[in-house]
Amino acid sequence: MQIIRDLATLRAASAEARRDGRRLALVPTMGALHQGHLALVTAGRQVAQTVAVSIFVNPLQFAPTEDLSRYPRDEAGDLAKLREVGCDIVWMPDVPTMYPPGSATRIEVTGPAEGYEGAARPDHFRGVATVCTKLFSQTQADVAVFGEKDWQQVQVVSRVVADLDLPIRILPHPTVREADGLACSSRNIRLTPEQRALAPLLPRLMVTALDTIRAGAAPGPVLERATRQLQEAGFVPDYLALVQPETLQPWQGGPGRLLAAARLGEVRLLDNMAL
Ligand code: PAJ
Repeated sequence: MQIIRDLATLRAASAEARRDGRRLALVPTMGALHQGHLALVTAGRQVAQTVAVSIFVNPLQFAPTEDLSRYPRDEAGDLAKLREVGCDIVWMPDVPTMYPPGSATRIEVTGPAEGYEGAARPDHFRGVATVCTKLFSQTQADVAVFGEKDWQQVQVVSRVVADLDLPIRILPHPTVREADGLACSSRNIRLTPEQRALAPLLPRLMVTALDTIRAGAAPGPVLERATRQLQEAGFVPDYLALVQPETLQPWQGGPGRLLAAARLGEVRLLDNMAL
């Protein structure tokens, strides 16, 4: 496993990996790796001969109010997990390598970046779109694997790739869950034992709501009731919304995606499921 921290070495490793028509898969991450991230690496391995994982805690996607310095970091643990799962290249730039002094270009996305996480975290998707575009350009990867856990992020990044004609394929991967249904997240370790026991109520209520809507009930009242049940259990729901899967416009029949965000204590839980 090659650990790379400078762009020239990355470029050379990428050229080598893509020789003779071989493919390179990229898995962008911010580290603190868990089973969800590792599943993306395994998925990358199935579509490419070489898998690169980037680990970069991107300051551009954190608001000044969100404490960037508190983001969990565990370089040694991450590298051990990547060796075990089978990763070829780890791209670990520092902030000046990613954003050299004078850096002034940002990717601004409207459409799917508006509302939901875009409303809760202004400028978040600008940071995500900018860093992903740079990662695609730096690695020249043929395919990038993203988790459906962050559904809106997948739609935003797919929009950028389409709009900027970037020569890369976005491969979404289903959300990896704990045995009790809670979506794996680096934030879960910040839940108290009581909150951790309560957290799977969010996906459970989402499953029930979707079943009820599939059976013909109108989404509005179903989602209002689920929101009330979350509040009564001690969550602070942010949104529970049924949307068109790609545009994130309100659902109008046909395929739909249920998006959810709710705070439990200090932790913001995110989840989504297909109708
Ligand atoms: P991060 O939160 O580290 O997530 C990296 C990738 O892992 C994302 O594609 C995310 O959707 C995926 N992921 C997280 N939890 C998952 C789960 N339970 N099941 C499946 N996939 C999961 O998302 C980011 O980093 C950043 O915004 C990034 C794209 C790296 C840009 O900085």
